[in-house]
Amino acid sequence: MAKAFPEGFLWGGSTAANQIEGAWNEGGRGPATSDFARLITKEIRDTEGPFDAHVPHNAASKEMVEDMKAHPENWELPKRRGIDFYHTYKEDIALFAEMGFKVFRMSISWSRIFPNGDDLVPNEEGLKFYDAVFDELHKYGIEPLVTLSHFDTPLHLAEVYGGFASRHTVDAFARYAETVIRRYKDKVKYWLTFNEINNVLSNPFTSSGVILPGAPEPNSCNPYLEHWQLKFQAVHNQFVASAAKMGNMLCRLENYAESSKPEDQLQVMFEDHFNWFFTDVQATGEYPYYMQRFFDENGIKIEMGPDDLKLLKEGAVDFITISYYMTYIMRYKGNPVPKPTGRLLSDIKNPHLPKSDWGWVIDPIGFRITLNRIYDRYHKPIFISENGLGAVDHPDAQGRIEDDYRIDYMRAHVEQLREAIADGVDVFGYAWWGPIDLVSSGTSEMTKRYGMIYVDQDDYGHGTGKRSKKKSFYYYKKLIASNGADLENNITY
Ligand code: BG6
Repeated sequence: MAKAFPEGFLWGGSTAANQIEGAWNEGGRGPATSDFARLITKEIRDTEGPFDAHVPHNAASKEMVEDMKAHPENWELPKRRGIDFYHTYKEDIALFAEMGFKVFRMSISWSRIFPNGDDLVPNEEGLKFYDAVFDELHKYGIEPLVTLSHFDTPLHLAEVYGGFASRHTVDAFARYAETVIRRYKDKVKYWLTFNEINNVLSNPFTSSGVILPGAPEPNSCNPYLEHWQLKFQAVHNQFVASAAKMGNMLCRLENYAESSKPEDQLQVMFEDHFNWFFTDVQATGEYPYYMQRFFDENGIKIEMGPDDLKLLKEGAVDFITISYYMTYIMRYKGNPVPKPTGRLLSDIKNPHLPKSDWGWVIDPIGFRITLNRIYDRYHKPIFISENGLGAVDHPDAQGRIEDDYRIDYMRAHVEQLREAIADGVDVFGYAWWGPIDLVSSGTSEMTKRYGMIYVDQDDYGHGTGKRSKKKSFYYYKKLIASNGADLENNITY
């Protein structure tokens, strides 16, 4: 048996309120941007264009939001129902406990606490819900790790203030953060501010509440590629809102050059900058030198408050949190500094790697590389808040799911994680994305399943909602019980 992970290593799973809770209009909750993210099925992707995850799936124009409000019957909006965790949390947490979870990464729905985002008094019913969830987790010795904002800005802040493009939203966020951090001071030790803060570039509406001017072009892969001023202003405001001693959260995009041409390597450097930028600011408290040229050449001027730089410096994060799903191939795009693609899936596919059903390349070695590079750059402890495989599951006649593909993915990534730790990288936890099937962030599908726990529910909300254990449930349970030493897939299911 291989070497175990460090003692006290936090094994667990990761979710987000908008993808699991449902109950979008219960308990005093106000509407959030995620309630306006439409279902993008494979048929829609095939007819309307090659949609990437996190790109044009979410309403981003005033017109779309208005239409969804006026004619909800014309839209399929699955995040409104999630997987009904709001009502099933006890049963679901009991299953996490059975797998041996030490940590559960979840988010608080801001509009459940402050229905408009900027109310002066919090909604007690919303606060009580999370009290109950945290108590339930602690009952089993599971540590909650909580994201304050995971792709669900209160709609009112988006509509009236343009979300984080305005400082008003920073103040509202500060009130929200203070309220929950104070309320749950004895129940929550680990906080993250914004999920995948870099996604403001490709997904400004749900992640930051920024409604871009004009309607998105219907057949474009990414109609939101411009508006740099707005996006970088929003992200600056999010940096300021994040300036507190807690974790950041970056969607880590590890890039390889397509060839050994120096130009391709230069492209890797450019793209890297657009990913490191976010964590560089959050980890060092300073704007890195390399963004200035991009800002100048694109006429971006960040408006800063007099104390912003001081706040950023004082609020540098204590630990680095990342999601890791895949790696990307870069080909030279020319000088001056080219704009980032903002796409999650690169056009160029790595011929050496297999792909998921959604075209995401599977690259466990890239995981080890990225962990080493992050640690080399920041020398701060790392928490893996997301890693996982979205796949189509086929229950057999008895409803059992032999998901060896998911087990293979997990095993390969955990092996490389172990290598990275052996290399000397300080990693203190690993949370599998979507331990229970949930609504996809990028496409709002249920068909894209990540879970070790199956949820009987389809893209349109049909099904009993019943939970059942896949083969991977037993695999992860065994893996955790051995603290990562036993990775053999010898499960009888
Ligand atoms: C991350 C998000 O980007 O990727 C999650 O933080 C998301 O919210 C996950 O679910 C997987 O993406 P998708 O589109 O497959 O759900």
